[in-house]
Amino acid sequence: MPVEFLGIAATGDGSETNSRTTAAFDRDYTLRLARAHEEHGWDRVLFAYGAGSPDPAPAAAYLAAKLDRLQILLAHRPNVSYPTFAAKTFATLDQISDGRLTVHFITGGNDHEQQREGDFLTKDQRYDRTLEYIRIVKRAWTSTEPFDHEGEYYRFRDFVSDVFPVQQPRPGVSFGGSSPAAYAAGAAEADIYCLWGEPLARTAEQIEAVRAAARTAGRTDLPRIQVAFRPIIAPTEELAWEKAYRTVDAINARKASGDQLARRRYRPSADGSFRPENTGSQRLLEIAAAGERYDRALWTPTAAATGGAGNSNALVGTPETVAQALLDYYDLGVDILSARGYDLLDDAIDFGRYVIPLVREEVAKRDAERAAERAARAEQDRHQLIALQA
Ligand SMILES: Cc1cc2nc3c(=O)[nH]c(=O)nc-3n(C[C@H](O)[C@H](O)[C@H](O)COP(=O)(O)O)c2cc1C
Repeated sequence: MPVEFLGIAATGDGSETNSRTTAAFDRDYTLRLARAHEEHGWDRVLFAYGAGSPDPAPAAAYLAAKLDRLQILLAHRPNVSYPTFAAKTFATLDQISDGRLTVHFITGGNDHEQQREGDFLTKDQRYDRTLEYIRIVKRAWTSTEPFDHEGEYYRFRDFVSDVFPVQQPRPGVSFGGSSPAAYAAGAAEADIYCLWGEPLARTAEQIEAVRAAARTAGRTDLPRIQVAFRPIIAPTEELAWEKAYRTVDAINARKASGDQLARRRYRPSADGSFRPENTGSQRLLEIAAAGERYDRALWTPTAAATGGAGNSNALVGTPETVAQALLDYYDLGVDILSARGYDLLDDAIDFGRYVIPLVREEVAKRDAERAAERAARAEQDRHQLIALQA
């Protein structure tokens, strides 16, 4: 199965290491960054969602109208919309993009952040609501007959949409989270299950948990797995490690600077502590506390410095080292590799130019070898059968 690469769509140029020099929504930067992904071998870009951030849905429509190939993964929080309305927005976006939309349903891992837009449910309740929401969206995408809904969080009568997605039967559903409630909801409904990059053994553990939850939900297929990293690459190992240490210094300097956006990013939890409420971030901090380096190239100080804020573990080394590290995840059963640098634009170009081709080439080789092995086994079985029949 060919591997896919997910990059980042951003509407401004800020990151953990750099204060923003653009407006929050800078139309030219948004397009330049996405075009850099399209031109450098990426398959898809993620529009993340944050309270206060520009609305990613119209930004996605803008990119879809300007670019021909790049696919879009649109993060969406159920609390900000009604599911029938959201289903129409997504179907319209799938029309605008001619079938290039996947929706990433965000449950929200931090109460304070959710409350900024009026969401006062607990995290487990939010997962419950996300599950109901996704089911309604799927039905609205596919039902040509009016339907009623009587659920825990939503109730409506006689809805039928007049706009349907290009993708049939529907666009892909993506989902992330590392708590038991996340596995249960996501594994039941998602086509793509997203994880933040952890050491290989911990990632294998999460993949198994997702697969077990999918089987418990009665699924016969399994969600595809996506894993996200922050690559730090340079022409030599030594230069890459220097860059890695400089990156952590820059994260710490920005945190200490009192920059308003940085303060909002590194927000305290509801109890006033800086311990994250979401399991995914707790796992990242626990892994970072247990060690700085894992496997071939995984480096945790970037996760420690950001409080495990989302995709934050680095892969450090030359393009060859980082490509090999990514292939280790492919061998573990990962289908989609997500990557984002600290300089969004330049790093997207470098990763696309120097890492993606290496990984794709090796994946093609591995896939061909596996296909040849399968064919040889089938041939052997056929001979055995003939021998038995003779
Ligand atoms: C790949 C990925 C992308 C995510 N993107 C966002 C996002 O854009 N906005 C957001 O609020 N949460 C985002 N999340 C957070 C999750 O949707 C989820 O709310 C959180 O991880 C729940 O935590 P837990 O189940 O690990 O406790 C993302 C998670 C993953 C794995």
